[in-house]
Amino acid sequence: MFKSFLLSVLEILSLKNIFNKINDCHNTEDFRKLAKSKLPAPIFHYIDGGADDEITLRRNTEAYEQCDLIPNVLAGVENIDLSTTVMGQKIDMPLFCSPTAVQRLFHHEGERAVSKAAEKFGTMFGISSLGTVGLAEIGSTINTPKMFQLYYHKDRGLTESMLEQCHEANFDVLALTVDTIVTGNRERDLRTGFTMPLRLSLSSLMSFAIHPTWAINYFTHKKFDLPILKDHINEANFVVNLGEYFTSMLDQSMNWNDAEELRKKWGKEFCLKGIMSVEDAKRAVDIGATGIIVSNHGGRQLDGSRAPFDQLSEIVDAVGDKIDVICEGGITRGTHVLKALSLGAKACSGGKMYLYALAAGGQRGVEKALSNLQSEMIRDMKLMGCTKVSDLSRNNIRFR
Ligand SMILES: Cc1cc2nc3c(=O)[nH]c(=O)nc-3n(C[C@H](O)[C@H](O)[C@H](O)COP(=O)(O)O)c2cc1C
Repeated sequence: MFKSFLLSVLEILSLKNIFNKINDCHNTEDFRKLAKSKLPAPIFHYIDGGADDEITLRRNTEAYEQCDLIPNVLAGVENIDLSTTVMGQKIDMPLFCSPTAVQRLFHHEGERAVSKAAEKFGTMFGISSLGTVGLAEIGSTINTPKMFQLYYHKDRGLTESMLEQCHEANFDVLALTVDTIVTGNRERDLRTGFTMPLRLSLSSLMSFAIHPTWAINYFTHKKFDLPILKDHINEANFVVNLGEYFTSMLDQSMNWNDAEELRKKWGKEFCLKGIMSVEDAKRAVDIGATGIIVSNHGGRQLDGSRAPFDQLSEIVDAVGDKIDVICEGGITRGTHVLKALSLGAKACSGGKMYLYALAAGGQRGVEKALSNLQSEMIRDMKLMGCTKVSDLSRNNIRFR
């Protein structure tokens, strides 16, 4: 009773304010600033940070700035079709939501908000093994394509259980993450003491105190849990930092045979998330994967790893006619997507481009972020003299 009263008051007080602020967010950086003002520091830095010196994190976006688009004019561009088909899924725009962990920590609506926003824009929604909303719920509420991201656990029963949950919830694509054999060295998380769920310490209490709206929402909505894993972990003891999770639960012996076996067991569209070398791209084709996500996990794993956009041409030249190549990491603008498509990517995906918006304003925030990016892509296509994604090619891009 008191809880619902408190929530109503909070919603009335904050809604107008939130709507105005979200409408003022015109790009990813605006959302980043708003998210920073709303989140306790450990949570903001968990989203925002990368590994070691964050060189790869920065390069992921900078890579797009080393080349230029060459437009054509007088092309009759009143109608733009942004749709593309990737791994058998027709999506209305060539940018989809990468799977990211623990979204209810960022905003109490979590994956519910992101999946509904993705559906509204007719694009694919990816959910992580560390999702905080169950697969059955997503499966029964979302009609656009759904991707499940699988971490390969030592506990084979858990992997089987996740495949079963995905089949039952009618997921379309399985993405096996292959770039987290150990966790990256995320020094911001070490400094802030980030854990899942949040552990109360003196400094986190301070952080909650100065972000009361986030804290009230977090503590008055459904308790934090990991429904996809929950039957296989002892939730009472499940307070870990990410390093502990990856080391204690994931299987470091995972190899190409395991990936191939998993693809066969799954039997539907299958991709490897975190491919960076041509050799691995070719092996992905050999084991029958239908897609590869060229990615360095958003600069959160191997610092000093090449940026996906820098590596894209080599991979497309080697396997682009045999497998769908998706480019991911550092995307903050519509022109970034157009540049990756020009080099031969089938589609792009992104994490932070929607996560800041989720933290800033739940579903409404994510819708505004996707709407900004969609408008940019439409405007940019018109300025490029292109009416459909397949009009983009290497003829319209040059490196400096
Ligand atoms: C907060 C956060 C959590 C993430 N969690 C996962 C995860 O659980 N599984 C996964 O495969 N990738 C995860 N990623 C990586 C994303 O799927 C994606 O590779 C990355 O965000 C792309 O870079 P971008 O954020 O620059 O777009 C996460 C990324 C962020 C920012």
